[in-house]
Amino acid sequence: MSYVTKLVCSRCGEEYDPKINQVMCKHDDLGRLDILYDYELIKEKVNKRSIISRPRDTWRWAELMPAYEKYAVRLGEGGTPLIRSKRLGEKLGLKNLYLKDETRNPTGSFKDRSMAVSVAKAREKGVSVTTTASSGNAAAALAAYSANAGINTVAFVLSTASDGKVAQLKLYGASVIKVNGIESGEDPSVKMMRASVRRFGWYPSPSFGPFNPYQVEGPKAISFELAEQFEWKPFDWTLVPTGSSCLLAGIWKGVRDLTEIGLVDYYPKLVPVQPLGNSPLIRAIKSGQEFRQIEAESHPSTIAAGLSDPYPWDGDAALEGVRKTGGTGETANDREIIEAIRDLAKYEGIFAEPSGAAALAGLKRLLDAGVIDRSDRVVALVTGAGLKDIEFAKTLISQPPIIEPNERDLGAALKAEGLNI
Ligand SMILES: Cc1ncc(COP(=O)(O)O)c(C=O)c1O
Ligand SMILES: [Zn+2]
Repeated sequence: MSYVTKLVCSRCGEEYDPKINQVMCKHDDLGRLDILYDYELIKEKVNKRSIISRPRDTWRWAELMPAYEKYAVRLGEGGTPLIRSKRLGEKLGLKNLYLKDETRNPTGSFKDRSMAVSVAKAREKGVSVTTTASSGNAAAALAAYSANAGINTVAFVLSTASDGKVAQLKLYGASVIKVNGIESGEDPSVKMMRASVRRFGWYPSPSFGPFNPYQVEGPKAISFELAEQFEWKPFDWTLVPTGSSCLLAGIWKGVRDLTEIGLVDYYPKLVPVQPLGNSPLIRAIKSGQEFRQIEAESHPSTIAAGLSDPYPWDGDAALEGVRKTGGTGETANDREIIEAIRDLAKYEGIFAEPSGAAALAGLKRLLDAGVIDRSDRVVALVTGAGLKDIEFAKTLISQPPIIEPNERDLGAALKAEGLNI
């Protein structure tokens, strides 16, 4: 059975019956159709004991998801480890640093959580073509889940998308169309996706709430898992790499779901981290702006491709989450993001892509500023794997020495590498 009671447009308040599976508001007002649940009924099914024997994927929380489990595509998303950092925490002087390792998801990023739910909904609706606008990760996730479900995908990506990400998409069988340059105000890949949805009636499945509300529900499970991993006890902060803000919106919704069904009675403070060169949401947080006052970044500039959406589509929900939890926002520049990639790899053995490492970069700033206390319990999400963009990783390293196979050359090379032998 479905526990969804209705869908309500976040802009105009129009209500929709969940049975009609509406995806976008009919008033074309860029409102997100927020999904409401019957928490009283869910409470009877979901509790600390009832979930223990369930699978550790999205459907562990089936009652809190907007699609029927029988349509699930199961590639093993979610159930990611919460790693207690020793070495990196020590370096930062932070006693309780935890890393939620989302690089372990099937296509290498947290977007698998979003698309697991969206594609389940697509199957329920009998969709034959899914479409997306993405820098790569959301598209790869959509293509993989659609492939498994036997549904075609058309992906519009920016012409700057890395070869590796495009290759991954193509191998999943997606049709990929590269779109040139970001014009000020509107991402051209989004423009093409919207045009195709209007013209061909395809199912829109980007990871932006206003174009698909179902996928927003997938990342809620990050909040559910964190609560369970902390044994339902409070922790202080969750830092989230942020672009369109959909991930943060999902995490916030997950926190609210948990309090609604009485599984926890605290809110961790939510902290989006955006790249300095594309930070409209952080500016809004710092200057007390309302969502409607936010303007798209005119020329986003960052090495973090996943955080380069010029407009925070789900910024309304993100702002609410930050304000209601007493959180804050932070930026990180490219140099700091690179340092975070190096630290995660060197101190923790986690290989992240730039977008994936941004939360850690923001954390350093907040520690230095004294906003986060060094005794706080802090979670930093690591959202995307470094293996997705090896070309970029190559730019961070020096080439290893090549030696003749003799011990004299070996000794010289080890010395040059700084190894004391
Ligand atoms: C690896 C990674 N981390 C974080 C994000 C940010 O998510 P959102 O756009 O929902 O804010 C993205 C988005 O593409 C991403 O690919
Ligand atoms: Zn509306």
